[in-house]
Formats: sequence, structure tokens, C-alpha cells
Amino acid sequence: MQPVGPEAEKLVLVMVGLPARGKSYTARKVARYLTWLGYRTRVFNVGEYRRARFGAKVAHDFFDPENAHGREARRTAAMAALADLQQWLRRDGDVAIYDATNSTVERRAMVRERCTLAGFDVLYLEIFCEDEAQIDATVRETKLTSPDYAGVPEATAIADFRARIAHYERAYEPLQEDEGSYLRVKNRGEHVTAHRVHGYVASRLGFLLMNLHLNDRPIWLTRHGESMFNVAGLIGGDADLSPDGQRYAHSLADHLDACYPDTDALKIWTSSLRRALQTANPLGRKSTSWRALDEIDAGVCDGMSYAQIEAEMPDEYAARQHDKFTYRYPRGESYVDVIHRLDPVIIEIERVRRPVLVIAHQAVLRALYAYFMGVEPERCPHLPIPLHTVIKLTPHAYGCHEERVPLEPNTAASGTGGDRASRHASQ
Ligand code: SIN
Repeated sequence: MQPVGPEAEKLVLVMVGLPARGKSYTARKVARYLTWLGYRTRVFNVGEYRRARFGAKVAHDFFDPENAHGREARRTAAMAALADLQQWLRRDGDVAIYDATNSTVERRAMVRERCTLAGFDVLYLEIFCEDEAQIDATVRETKLTSPDYAGVPEATAIADFRARIAHYERAYEPLQEDEGSYLRVKNRGEHVTAHRVHGYVASRLGFLLMNLHLNDRPIWLTRHGESMFNVAGLIGGDADLSPDGQRYAHSLADHLDACYPDTDALKIWTSSLRRALQTANPLGRKSTSWRALDEIDAGVCDGMSYAQIEAEMPDEYAARQHDKFTYRYPRGESYVDVIHRLDPVIIEIERVRRPVLVIAHQAVLRALYAYFMGVEPERCPHLPIPLHTVIKLTPHAYGCHEERVPLEPNTAASGTGGDRASRHASQ
């Protein structure tokens, strides 16, 4: 996939921070975002190299800076990860994320020197947290499920991990301005600092990090109800809902009323197309329409059926069959184009703290789903997003939990739902 930026940059993002500050969480989130935007991105986690070489079960004194054996072993793991990272970046990658504590000036200088010599840009990303409650939550959420503590009683694991953190704290040297370019995120996004940050990717990351926060509120995705174009098997257009589509809109309204009786509890975004607006109408809740959520633009094929395209434009049909992801309709869009125009929507979803419902279209929802579920971009055009099904994605530490709720069209519904609209409007 062509990245969204002007050109692919070879960048090493060097994580910095004490254990349990959210480095790996942030590294994975950044990797997911950049991959989605078309940058070949990979995380190299030094802890995994350490486990592969020295086993998962090492006691806390392995991390004691005074322990010469532990120090040397950890250095071996760090160097092995760095060597693989450089090889991968030279051959295949655009952005490599070096996920380790990198807690001393000396270690960071060594990483920087090697990466710069190899011709890569270096950007540090320091995750800094002073909020004890947050640190405690991270210890419980992530470390207790880490292979380091598999089968270890909770109290023992927590005590050992706390002792490990204390070793790192003794050696930790926060980033200094003269070390180079960096982004620093303090207290889960309370402060984001950018120091000598240049270039498209680094700047996008700053923007993402300013809007990112720990958030487990659900994101709901649904296609509009069935449209008259769906009934006729035509693509694109701006058709009205079919009677079944209208009934789905009422079922959706009932479902949301059951989940969110408070009508302000949910943000609702729709595309600007009639079928999406008509699906939102019976909900009787405030909604915002975004042009960015409009369906993939089928260009000269808008209003045609697939059979018609195959018969009248066989080369176009075959090209799309061959590579549905990068194929661009003549005077229209490709999936890659759709992903790029959805970037502000993703940033906005990351920013808001309330649950969000997106009422949009198949290609657009495939692209949004791919971001949240970390699906490789090329698989995006083949993801099943059926009509009359609402998809609930609930973020957790390293991904999203997915639930699909097929909703039968509400046969008791009639008309356009004005009753519900006025009921909610008057609340
Ligand atoms: C680890 O071995 O778990 C991490 C090593 C480090 O980044 O200091």
C-alpha cells in the first residue's frame, strides 16, 4: 500500500520509559495506526528477545543494575533486537519501533549512533507517568498476564515486578534535550511534548499521541439500512432506504434505547448520504454527518451493477478482481484512498471519551474495522460487514473485543419514526 505521506521515511522510533508506564501499549497502538496508513511498521520488543534467550522466569535481581551477569544478558538481548530491527528496516520496513526501557543516556546514545550510521532517522518516544493509580492498573492489567509471571500467584508476581521497577528507577535517566528529537507523553496524554520533531510520520505521531488516551468505551459500527440501490443490486448512488431498511433503522433505535437510555450518552456520526441519514433519523438523537464517511466513490461506475461493469468494462472489472485494495475506479476512489480520507475520523474517535456509533457504508466500515482490529490493510476489502448487523468493538489493553448483533428489521415500525424523534427531542 502507498503510505499516506509524501514519501516513505526509514524511521526508528525508540521507546523510553520505566516498566509499567504504557510503552508497549503505545508502541502497539502506534504500529497499528502507521500500518493502517500504509507504512510497513514492526515492533521489536526486547523483553521477547530476553525471554527467548534466557527464559521467561527470571527473578527481579536479573534487572538489578549492579548484577553484572543480568546486565550483560540484557545487553545481549537488546543488541540482538537492534540487529534484527536494522536488518528488517534495510530490507522491508518503513518504521521500526524499538520497544525497550532504554533507560540510560548511554544506552540511548548507542542505539542512536547505530541507527544513524545505518542511515535511519531516530525519534525517541518517552512515556512518563507519575500517577501511582495508573501504574498500579498497568501492572495488574498487563504484567500479570505476561509470560514472565505465568502460573505465579498474583501477590508474588506483583511484589517481584515492583522490585524490578525499583531496579530500573535507580538507573533511570529521563531524556535530555541534547539527545535528539523526541516526543514525550506524560501521565497518559496530560502533556505531550515535541522536541525538534520534523517530517511527516513524526508529526502525525505527535498528533495521534495528543489525542490518544486510555479508553475502553465501545465503538459501534453499522451500515445504513437496506437501500433501494441494494435491492436493485446497484453500487454507489444516493438512494433512499427500502421498507426493510427503514424497519432496520427502527430496530437499531430500539437497540440503542436499551443500551443507552440517556440520549446524550452516545455520539452518532453518519455519512452525508441519504441512506445513512435516514437510518439515523428514527433514533431521535443528535447526530453529525461527515463527508469523510461517504461510501467509496465508484467514479464512472456509480449507479451500475457488478454484472454490468463486467459486461461493459471487462478490463476494469478484471483489474478490480485482481487487486481490490489498490484498484481505483476511473474518476473515483480505491480502498487506499478511502483509508487516507478516514484518518481524521480515526483521530476523532480516539479523542472522544463517549461511545461512538458510526452509520456508514461497507467499504468505509471495512476500513474503520481494519484499524480497530489491526487487520492487514490488504485484507480490508474482503472483510464481512453485513447489512442489518451492528458491530460493537470494545478496546482493551492490546486490541478490541468484538461483538456482532444482527438486528431483525422491526416489523412493528411504520413511517419514518417521527414519533420516536419527537419523544426524544422533547426529553
Ligand atoms: C525486558 O527484558 O523485559 C526489558 C528489557 C529492557 O527494556 O530493559
